[in-house]
Amino acid sequence: MDELTYVTDAKVVSHRRVAAGCRRLVLAAPEIARAVRPGQFLHVRCDGTADPLLRRPLSVHDADRERGTVTILYRVVGRGTALLAQKKQGGRVNVLGPLGRGFDPPAEHRRVAVVGGGIGIAPLFFLARELSADPLKRVPRRAVTVFQGARTAAELDVADFTTLPVNLFTATDDGSRGHAGSVVELFLDTVCHEPVDWVSAAGPPGMLRALAGALETLGLSGEFSLEERMGCGIGACVCCSCRIGAPDRWEYRRVCADGPVFGAREVVWE
Ligand SMILES: Cc1cc2nc3c(=O)[nH]c(=O)nc-3n(C[C@H](O)[C@H](O)[C@H](O)COP(=O)(O)OP(=O)(O)OC[C@H]3O[C@@H](n4cnc5c(N)ncnc54)[C@H](O)[C@@H]3O)c2cc1C
Ligand code: FES
Repeated sequence: MDELTYVTDAKVVSHRRVAAGCRRLVLAAPEIARAVRPGQFLHVRCDGTADPLLRRPLSVHDADRERGTVTILYRVVGRGTALLAQKKQGGRVNVLGPLGRGFDPPAEHRRVAVVGGGIGIAPLFFLARELSADPLKRVPRRAVTVFQGARTAAELDVADFTTLPVNLFTATDDGSRGHAGSVVELFLDTVCHEPVDWVSAAGPPGMLRALAGALETLGLSGEFSLEERMGCGIGACVCCSCRIGAPDRWEYRRVCADGPVFGAREVVWE
């Protein structure tokens, strides 16, 4: 944990449903809003009690440094997120963060593709916004192309990329909006005529693995945000290990402290 990590009882500014089973939570957490970078996450105590005991890792979907707020976009999948879903406006949520190593597209790459599947899109909105139009000019403006995939059109609406100065391509499994099929197919079809020179991605392991193959074929570099079940969230318990290196020479690294973002070519898939 570095010096820019805070633990705070953040006030719920707003909390609403954005699609079936998905919610957007805005928290007042000025120190975290100032310190956080795209791809970092918060470790969230979903209830005020010790049940469930462990915090849950949730990416920062967006941060407003002037208003001092951070936004989380999450899917309710189990006990922790179900408890979090009950938090009301004006209530408190204890969060620890910002944690982890976020996205870092090298400055020389001016055309960045942002590829997300399902709720994996959560950390990519913040990245796309900062890369395309950072009001603080901390990150130089770049040409950003977003590839968003989901099961249905309703699930695409969890994040509104139309508010950003980006090129947006969408794919749905059921064909209800955009390309009918996988977001990786759409990415492959599109970059032939709209070249990019870096890819930042997050999503289910199957999607990332297919995308890794596509990047290999195209000779493109990039970075992936990985998800593993977490305990401490700060690098102490080693329960969030993933394999990083080359297929014949890899080592275990901690997703919480060494990631969650790793080089696309470094991830050794199980
Ligand atoms: C760095 C990081 C960032 C994340 N960001 C987001 C986000 O922005 N939005 C979001 O909706 N989810 C995100 N997740 C996943 C989220 O942490 C889990 O969905 C959550 O912890 C589930 O808690 P629960 O108590 O509701 O479910 P549990 O009862 O603990 O588990 C329910 C189901 O979810 C699976 N699951 C639990 N934890 C994880 C995990 N860490 N990774 C993958 N599957 C898991 C379990 O295997 C089980 O099938 C992130 C995970 C990591 C590691
Ligand atoms: S969750 Fe404890 S080391 Fe990563």
